Amino acid sequence: MRFAAHVLALLPLTAICWDIYFGQLSPNPIEDVTHRTGNAALTLLLVTHTITITRIITGRASALTFRRLTGLYTYFYAVLHAFIFFGVDYRFDYNLISDGIFTKPYVLAGLTALLLITPRAITSFRFGAVRLRNYAVVINLLVYPATAIAVLHFYWLLKKEKSEALVYLAMMAFLFVFRIPWVKSRFTRLNKTCP
Ligand code: HEM
Repeated sequence: MRFAAHVLALLPLTAICWDIYFGQLSPNPIEDVTHRTGNAALTLLLVTHTITITRIITGRASALTFRRLTGLYTYFYAVLHAFIFFGVDYRFDYNLISDGIFTKPYVLAGLTALLLITPRAITSFRFGAVRLRNYAVVINLLVYPATAIAVLHFYWLLKKEKSEALVYLAMMAFLFVFRIPWVKSRFTRLNKTCP
């Protein structure tokens, strides 16, 4: 199962490498890869939330088995995505980057989302979990505003047709409903009464 999860999580990267190797990227290859890595990051972020929600609904801790895996792949694609923008597209040019951050709100939103999920990626490793154990609750909670800001990032960058970002927004809103304390406590009670 774990092997299959890795294969699934690596599918977007495999497809990108395949298209690079066989010259099948779109006429604007940088934008193409930026979009695909961004989509992979946001999709895996919502998959990670879905795993947490499955735990709440079923009461089964085993549901969490793959959360670390999907969380780290989320971070991998988000970092790759940001690297393509800052490194490949903007060639680490300080003026271009600062101009991008301060004149394009979607870039600032993307950067904020990436910074907010970074501590959670660090605490996915033992050294990070030990070093940052006093902040574990806050670090876990930061993933929620990070998700909302990543969806906003996508919404803001879309010119006219915003439906794709609205679909992500609807999925995020649906998942976050289960994090509302009284909704969560209902499922906890339900799982206690009929395990
Ligand atoms: C430093 C951080 C980030 C930067 C600089 C950045 C930059 C960009 C850029 C330039 C685009 C394409 C814009 C265009 O169409 O011209 C984009 C698209 C996107 N980004 Fe980011 N991003 C960042 C972080 C993130 C994060 C953390 C996520 C999700 C977790 C994310 C998700 C997306 C998505 C879903 C798209 C749209 C893909 C599509 O159009 O299909 N980004 N980002």
